Amino acid sequence: MKRNPPDICRARRQAVLKDLRGIPLLLRSAPEVLRNGDVHYTYRQDSNFHYLCGFDEPEAILLAVPEGRGHRTILFVRPRDKAREVWDGKRAGPAGAKRTYGADEAHEVADFWKVFGELTRDWEALAWSLAVDPAFDARLMALFGARLTNRPRKNQGIPAIVDPRPVIWARRQIKGPEEVELLQEAARISCEGHRVAMALAEPGMYEYEVQAELEAVFRRNGAPRVGYDSIVASGPNACTLHYVENSRRIRSGDLLLIDAAAEYGHYSADITRTFPVRGRFSPAQRAVYEAVLRCQKKCVEAIKPGNTVQKITELSQREITKGLLQLGLLKKGTLAAHMKKRSFAKYYMHGLGHWLGMDVHDCGPYQNPDASWIGLKPGMVMTVEPGIYIPADDRAAPPELRGIGVRIEDDVLVTRSGHRVLTADVPKEVADVEALTAG
Ligand code: GLY
Ligand code: MN
Ligand code: MN
Repeated sequence: MKRNPPDICRARRQAVLKDLRGIPLLLRSAPEVLRNGDVHYTYRQDSNFHYLCGFDEPEAILLAVPEGRGHRTILFVRPRDKAREVWDGKRAGPAGAKRTYGADEAHEVADFWKVFGELTRDWEALAWSLAVDPAFDARLMALFGARLTNRPRKNQGIPAIVDPRPVIWARRQIKGPEEVELLQEAARISCEGHRVAMALAEPGMYEYEVQAELEAVFRRNGAPRVGYDSIVASGPNACTLHYVENSRRIRSGDLLLIDAAAEYGHYSADITRTFPVRGRFSPAQRAVYEAVLRCQKKCVEAIKPGNTVQKITELSQREITKGLLQLGLLKKGTLAAHMKKRSFAKYYMHGLGHWLGMDVHDCGPYQNPDASWIGLKPGMVMTVEPGIYIPADDRAAPPELRGIGVRIEDDVLVTRSGHRVLTADVPKEVADVEALTAG
């Protein structure tokens, strides 16, 4: 399992504390969630927690306290427990938290309130995400509140609580080289899965069979899980944007839209390809596909420092509108008039893309506090995923276009000189796609 090096996590914590102007940071691990009976959902650490300390067990608490020119890292973790470890696997315990994860101090999590209460006696501020776990907040407020009533003569209020998430999200928005490496590996594995799926999908197979083959490639390459539920949508199912049932039998002449990717080292890729199943695009399918492809390539080309997601989104809407006019899906009216009316939204109803990182829809703002759009900077990663979806029952559409859904999605890193496509290893040009799907 890929682990975050402790020195990198320490540098990240230091950067976040600097952005918080020296306010101590309190962060908790993701909770375990019961699925049914005695079964839990597969545990995945909270992305912020993993980013800042790399400790991936549940029931953990991180406290990072500025100290001199650096900070003191205190981890509260589950104790070693031979009996429990027989069932659930090895725990680091406080000693392991120090040895392996670079904590300066570590305690059993059961001692948290005692240690925290003593530590925070004179604190004036704390960075903590309120309103995520009201029960924890209540305990925190009770601790601080009791202190206030017990010591009124010190004229000291309860610590000011500052939400650390915007600061952490802004840091996570710019990926360091070690993060790009993990994203690139997630992308490499995902590309391989897509290529395998394109080559093996056949009429008569069920969508879930293709899903199984695709996800087997991810797992075989060391990806512990998918970055999000795989969408394997044949024929008209492609028009359901988050179709994850994957239960239809694929028919001859169908297009197959696959939106799927692996997570690796807690980073997720996000790839969509749409291809004819064992054969060639029909003229109607090809016309829609080429309209989306032209748009997608232009948008990728527009990615460079200084440009904004909003401008590139507008470019995509313009290109899709041109395509819709050519396809006869929009009639009467100029390009400008249709842009003004946002006519494209009937067939292109989602945005151009989103930030990508540890979360598939990754954190980080799109706009500045003054509502202007954030300029792209080197180290940002975004998806570019325009599409055209023509419902099967759209009587306004030419009959041969009905039920066609096409999306093409790549992951793009902003570099100093422009951009780098992380997902270039899966074909998208018509000839290349047809060569691969021919088997
Ligand atoms: N796979 C989710 C998305 O493309 O946003
Ligand atoms: Mn996406
Ligand atoms: Mn996607």
